[in-house]
Amino acid sequence: MVKGQDDEARFGNGLTTTMSPFIEQAQAHGELYIKQPYDLYSPENHESWRKLFARMHERWEKYANEHFLKGIESLCFDPNSVPRLEDVNKFLAPLTGFKAKAVSGYVPAYMFFDCLRNRDFPTTITIRRSDKLDYLPEPDIFHDIAGHVPMHTDKAFADTLVRFGEAANFAAHMVAEIKDEELKIQRLTSIVKAMARFFWFTIEFGLMRSTNGQDIKVYGSGLLSSYGEIEHCIVSPEVQRFPIQLEWVINQYFEIDHYQPLLFIVDSFDHLFSLVDQLENWMKEGKLDNVSPGEPEVSHDDLKSFLEAVK
Ligand SMILES: [Fe+2]
Repeated sequence: MVKGQDDEARFGNGLTTTMSPFIEQAQAHGELYIKQPYDLYSPENHESWRKLFARMHERWEKYANEHFLKGIESLCFDPNSVPRLEDVNKFLAPLTGFKAKAVSGYVPAYMFFDCLRNRDFPTTITIRRSDKLDYLPEPDIFHDIAGHVPMHTDKAFADTLVRFGEAANFAAHMVAEIKDEELKIQRLTSIVKAMARFFWFTIEFGLMRSTNGQDIKVYGSGLLSSYGEIEHCIVSPEVQRFPIQLEWVINQYFEIDHYQPLLFIVDSFDHLFSLVDQLENWMKEGKLDNVSPGEPEVSHDDLKSFLEAVK
């Protein structure tokens, strides 16, 4: 058998990232919110979870913030099998009202933020291959459930996500008032870019001063789900770590395919919450209307999702 066929036989029948017939079908039918078809996970898929979970443990103990460590304990994951979302939600929902909600793929920006506003977290259900544990550009269930969801057990963090959703809702209403179509698209593109950058440098790649004020800990989920980068971001002299400044973050482009060279530190989740407040105030004042160009791209679907939110 040639290599491609080999891979197909080993990974192609379960819920493996980019190789899942179930997901392809759901996408072909336009089904974004789906049920997690738990029986489709193959032994290989559970093996991926087992390996990923086992090797992260000592790194979390060393580098993760205390809220995450508390969260991961309260979610009672089975280290040997991919979690069932309904089991996760049984532990999560009573704490903050948040729930993991299975999706078939990319959720356009407004819909994503609006899910957060309603305390739903769009969750990828596929998992990376057990022979390629390290880098993948797509999110998977390990990133979403082990990287994000433990943070959602913390009240101040959960409230911050909801605040993001409210800011997106505010943006949708604000741009709906603009009559000139060209100006509307130009401003919306800039506002969504600013929000995406802020989300990236906080929720995905944020660092936090620990309560003793001495150490820097990780709270961003992209770091919490990466075996290599969770250590690199704290110990490497090549990483620039600065106290967060909103005007910098919203104008700072980023690239997703390598370790981040620049990260920002918040003092606490109350601090982070106040920054989302400030983001919305700046939106009102027009300070997000023309942010620095560059990554990330804002797609047609992202813009459409905002434009269709207010009829
Ligand atoms: Fe993420």
